[in-house]
Amino acid sequence: MEVVIVPDAKAGGEIVAEAMARLLRRKPDALLGVATGSTPLPVYEALAAKVRSGAVDASRARIAQLDEYVGLPAEHPESYRSVLRREVLEPLGIPADSFMGPDGTAEDVPEACAVYDRALAEAGGVDLQLLGIGTDGHIGFNEPCSSLASRTRIKTLTEQTRVDNARFFGGDIEQVPHHVITQGIGTILQARHLVLLATGEGKADALAATVEGPVAAVCPASAIQLHPHATVVADEAAASKLKLAGYFRYAYVNKPDWQGL
Ligand code: PGA
Repeated sequence: MEVVIVPDAKAGGEIVAEAMARLLRRKPDALLGVATGSTPLPVYEALAAKVRSGAVDASRARIAQLDEYVGLPAEHPESYRSVLRREVLEPLGIPADSFMGPDGTAEDVPEACAVYDRALAEAGGVDLQLLGIGTDGHIGFNEPCSSLASRTRIKTLTEQTRVDNARFFGGDIEQVPHHVITQGIGTILQARHLVLLATGEGKADALAATVEGPVAAVCPASAIQLHPHATVVADEAAASKLKLAGYFRYAYVNKPDWQGL
C-alpha cells in the first residue's frame, strides 16, 4: 500500500479531495464511497471548494454510504443518511437520488443488508472508497475480529466506539445506538481504490497495526493490505508510530507527478 504523510488534517483533506476530483474529471458519474465521522470533513470541505471554484463538477457523481445506525429514523439529524446529505450531497450539488445506502429502519435487517450489498455490485461497484479508522482499528463499523471476508451485515458496536461517537449525541452515550449496518470487509475490499485517512495522535496505534502489523481480524483495517490499490493518508500525529515513515516519505517525494494517488 502507499502511505502518504501530510503535515496536518487540512493537507490530508486537500490531497484526498484532489484524488476524488481527478477521478470525477475522468469519470463524471463515478461511485464515491463516503465515510462519516470527523476525519473526512476536511475532504468534503476541500472538494466543495473545488466545486465552487469550477475546478471540478460533481453533479453527476453517485454517492454510496459505508454504514448506518440501526433504528434511527432516516430524518434523525445523526442518521448517517442525514449527515451525508448535509456534509456531502448539498455542498457538492449532488441530487438526493444519486445517493445509495442501507435502510437502518428496515424490519428485516438481514434482508436490508443483502439488498444493499447487491445494489453496490449492480451499480458497477465503488470507484473510490474513503475510509476513516476507529481507535480500535475498525473500518466502516467492522469492529475487531470481524470476518475479513464479511459482507454487509448488522454489527454490535463496542463500548469504546459508542463512547467515541457520544459527542455527536450531545455527549450522552445512552443515545448512541448499539447496532449498525456496515459494509463488510469483503464488500469494502471490492472497491477499486481504497483511501484510508487518519488524523490525530489517537489513531497512531491503530494506524501502525494497520500498515505494519500482520493482516489480522483483530485490527480490521489491516485487511486493506490485501487490496491492490490502497492509499493511506495520515497526518504527522497519526503517522507517529510508523517505523517505516522515512521510507514512506522518500517514496512519495520521488513519485512521478502523473501517477496521482
Ligand atoms: P472519526 O471516526 O473520524 O470520527 O475519528 C472514524 C471511524 O470511526 O471510522
